Amino acid sequence: MASSVELEALIRQFSGAPRPAVDGLSLAVEAGEVVSLVGPSGCGKSTTLRMIAGLERPDSGAIRIGGKDVVALPPQARDVAMVFQGFALYPHMTARQIMEFPLKMRKVPAAERERAVRDAAELLNITPLLERVPAELSGGEQQRVAMGRAIVRQPQVFLFDEPLSNLDAALRSELRVELKKLLSRLEATALYVTHDQVEAMTLSDRICVLNRGRLEQIDSPRHIYEAPSSMFVARFFGSPPMNLLDVTQQGGVGRAGSVQVPLPPRAAAELTLGFRPEHVRLAIDAGESEALKGTARVSAVEPLGAETHLELDLEGQLFRAKTSGFEAPNVGTTIGFVVRAEELRWFDRKTGLTL
Ligand SMILES: Nc1ncnc2c1ncn2[C@@H]1O[C@H](COP(=O)(O)OP(=O)(O)OP(=O)(O)O)[C@@H](O)[C@H]1O
Ligand SMILES: [Mg+2]
Repeated sequence: MASSVELEALIRQFSGAPRPAVDGLSLAVEAGEVVSLVGPSGCGKSTTLRMIAGLERPDSGAIRIGGKDVVALPPQARDVAMVFQGFALYPHMTARQIMEFPLKMRKVPAAERERAVRDAAELLNITPLLERVPAELSGGEQQRVAMGRAIVRQPQVFLFDEPLSNLDAALRSELRVELKKLLSRLEATALYVTHDQVEAMTLSDRICVLNRGRLEQIDSPRHIYEAPSSMFVARFFGSPPMNLLDVTQQGGVGRAGSVQVPLPPRAAAELTLGFRPEHVRLAIDAGESEALKGTARVSAVEPLGAETHLELDLEGQLFRAKTSGFEAPNVGTTIGFVVRAEELRWFDRKTGLTL
């Protein structure tokens, strides 16, 4: 049922645009794999999905589903189901009719249609809602009907374009968990576009970070978080994101402000040091592997409940630290901080790439 999806050197240049919306994208998604596409607004996520669905034609490059080139095939012949952001449900149809519609179009016999709708409804927890029209459903329920419409067909590939983005935070996190279970039960191949890094981290086997139509990094969520391949990716994940400090070099010694830091094994003319806010410790106990150790002024404190975010000022360079609960020093005080050597990441500031 699940199929692989391969994109090879895919290019889509809209007329009049200064650069291609999708610019030489290559990507191989295995059968049964869930891959998120993330990146800033306008980086080509929706255009990529639309090309896979057959709603947009690439200028060049190949798209293979289950090993078969589909570029010349119309959307109906591709066996993919797409769930859009702000999907439109037919207002006069019941949830049942909406879900069975794609099967009717394919002339699937009534008994089989009924069984498919029943199974999907059960999976999505909407069995009691099947005879209602969209106006009688909440946003989250409508969203599940839209998903039901996609899954009754048992497509080879699911394409989700920010399917949870118009829901409130509580419903969103509830549906996120449901969707994860659903995708694993269906053993489906899915490409999932989202702006929500939590969705990307939790739902995907791999995350694909796009930047201006190009692939910036594709990796497991853990690798993306722990070993970003560029400053772009480092800034994209984490809340707050990875701290990035300019480091100057003189006589084999690195310095962030006046704080000394051992230089990385690989050289670059201009260095940027990265470390995550949760790896900044404020309690100073002399550990051997502590590579960054200094003092900074507390310039802001944001208590969030479970944790508190601090903004620290290191001689003009700002960075963030996290403390647990409401524990925090006062704004304006100067405090000591340390980061262990294994938590430091180095980037070439000119290229933005990791060293
Ligand atoms: N039909 C179109 N005609 C011209 N330009 C388009 C068209 N569709 C998209 N674009 C442009 O292509 C680029 C990529 O758009 P796309 O919709 O793929 O971005 P996205 O990554 O999905 O962004 P968002 O996160 O805001 O949804 C943008 O610069 C957009 O303006
Ligand atoms: Mg989009």
